[in-house]
Amino acid sequence: GEEQNPTPLQEYDDLISTLPLDEGWLPVRLRKYQGSWFPELNLPGVIAIQQHFKARPTDLFVLSFPKAGTTWLKALTFAITTRTQHPLAHHPLHSLNPHQCVVTMDRIFALGQASTIEAMPSPRILSTHMPFSLLRDSIEGSGCRIIYVCRDVKDVLVSWWHFNDKMRPPEMDRVPFAKALEMFCEGICPSGPIWSHVLEYWEESLRRPEKVLFLKYEEMMEEPMSHAKRLAEFMGCPFSLEEEREGVVEEILKLCSFEKLRNLEVNKTHKRDAVHLAKFDSLFRKGKVGDWRNHMSPEMARKLDEITQQNFKDSGFTV
Ligand code: A3P
Repeated sequence: GEEQNPTPLQEYDDLISTLPLDEGWLPVRLRKYQGSWFPELNLPGVIAIQQHFKARPTDLFVLSFPKAGTTWLKALTFAITTRTQHPLAHHPLHSLNPHQCVVTMDRIFALGQASTIEAMPSPRILSTHMPFSLLRDSIEGSGCRIIYVCRDVKDVLVSWWHFNDKMRPPEMDRVPFAKALEMFCEGICPSGPIWSHVLEYWEESLRRPEKVLFLKYEEMMEEPMSHAKRLAEFMGCPFSLEEEREGVVEEILKLCSFEKLRNLEVNKTHKRDAVHLAKFDSLFRKGKVGDWRNHMSPEMARKLDEITQQNFKDSGFTV
């Protein structure tokens, strides 16, 4: 029959309406909650996760700042962990978008569908863009594993700016890039500010390296093979010598590659639903390192780099 349209959670609406609002990224309305900005539509989910969600020891979390490489990491973790269940030639990733294979909890909880996450059999792969400080109580002590991906801050901004633009109705003006940069520098973007988001996960990866794997998009692009193997080991399903000989690692990388995913029928559509607000085709734009050079003047880049250095300088974290 017809798919029922889920009813969004309303119990936090009063609280949310009192939070600072920013409309500079319209059509996305952002609210500031516990130090970070969130799309208003997802915020009920973030609060519900904090109040109700408890991780299982077997859970694996795919975490990121939006536009840092979430889709790719979802595809890789899903393909690697399910490789023996599904022959790669007939893998679900051929017909499903990676976000349908690994769910983003924020949206599901915002739609009042937490029970679907409870009903998932272990081991689950779950995802969110929540900062570690907001997620901590839900996962602390559970023993679950976390994989976090970060990306050059300048490329994140460019990617987000394009992505936001794809959501814009035709009658709405496009956000000028200079204004986008200004807002981003003030931390105003989904899950922003980016610097504390990255640092909190990086510091946690230093505290608990056996449970928190911290990755960089640029390094993954540079050396996909070693990263696929590292992911598999971290997730407790290392590639066997035989698999390596048979080229399984290469096959997985090919299946999860930007070109391959982008050209699949499912990912070429403007398809979206209540859970997946982004049109699937808008998740695959360019997939390159350093596209910021085509959008920023040297002064713009310098300004953003300086803010990044300022934010990272006491931590020892290097980009
Ligand atoms: P660009 O806009 O720079 O192209 P997220 O998945 O976190 O929303 O991030 C989206 C960014 O990752 C986009 O960057 C997108 O093109 C890129 N991307 C998506 N799938 C990818 C893949 N399989 N490999 C590499 N990059 C990918």
